[in-house]
Amino acid sequence: MSIAEEQADEQPVQRVHVRAPGKVNLFLGVGELDDDGYHELSTVFQAVSLYEDVIATPADDFTLSVSGVADPSTVPLDDRNLAMRAAKVLAAATGYAGGVHLDVHKSVPVAGGMGGGSADAAAALVACNELWRTGLDHGRLHELAARLGADVPFSLMGGTAVGSGRGDVLTPALSRGRYEWVLLLDEEGLSTPAVYRAFDMVMAEDLKSDPERHAQRRRLDPVQVPPSFFESLLSGEAFELGQSLRNQLEAGSFRLRPQLEETIDAVVGEGGGPVVGGIVSGSGPTLAFLCETAEGADSTAERLRGWGRTALRAHGPVRGAHVVSADD
Ligand code: C5P
Repeated sequence: MSIAEEQADEQPVQRVHVRAPGKVNLFLGVGELDDDGYHELSTVFQAVSLYEDVIATPADDFTLSVSGVADPSTVPLDDRNLAMRAAKVLAAATGYAGGVHLDVHKSVPVAGGMGGGSADAAAALVACNELWRTGLDHGRLHELAARLGADVPFSLMGGTAVGSGRGDVLTPALSRGRYEWVLLLDEEGLSTPAVYRAFDMVMAEDLKSDPERHAQRRRLDPVQVPPSFFESLLSGEAFELGQSLRNQLEAGSFRLRPQLEETIDAVVGEGGGPVVGGIVSGSGPTLAFLCETAEGADSTAERLRGWGRTALRAHGPVRGAHVVSADD
């Protein structure tokens, strides 16, 4: 019996609510550009408690609504939307003939480098798989997720994981403790491809102006997570992890938005305060500040709001995309 025939025998599900987390890259090493226009990455993801909520209900066609964003024009509602693409990819892979309405409630900053669009796609995959009773296992969902975007598989998985390849080949990583974050938002997003292009430009200039320094940098910065990083994660100490945070792609984000570097320096300061590390989240422009305690993170967020900025609180690691409720 095909999946489509099997599902016809069962009671239809009327409404599925799935929640998927955003992420911070605790470590992001960027390697060479491959022939498909992707960079080889070596990264450590941590899922954090800013979530995308997707409610899937039956429909004849594929439709989408979005809430939770200040400017709705920043989120496409057609096939450029990753959640929409995810639903269609799952339907195509399983031979499902109907459609779905996806209601996406966003809490992860749009175009902020925290994988919000990827979380929408992960949530849509899990929600439609449940709504349509298509029954794909985790491995098959992971395959479809990787086709949708480099960060989508991690939002399915959650927790803490090492990503290699394009960031989509995942291995769970051991991590102890709960980490307290302040996320500092920027008014305008950054395009991920633009940040990678800026990164390539910085590297090309570096190579031209000082080939020896460039070679040295590359040698000192192999695209691998150093063993000391995993020791920090295992220590469970925010201070240790704060000292180890590293994002090589920052060079591209700083090139496009130099204020980001100044803001990190201003917030992290001379040390001794509650903030133990600061980093651009993924391609940015969201900045992620790790704090020693929850109270320290609360007071840091307040301080940044006093600057007239939007600062969110989150903790990690948290679980990946999961069904919150499913109603018959
Ligand atoms: O996979 P995703 O759609 O998130 O990637 C967006 C863009 O970011 C890619 O088209 C590519 O330009 C860039 N990228 C990259 N190397 C990666 C991941 C993304 O150059 N490993």
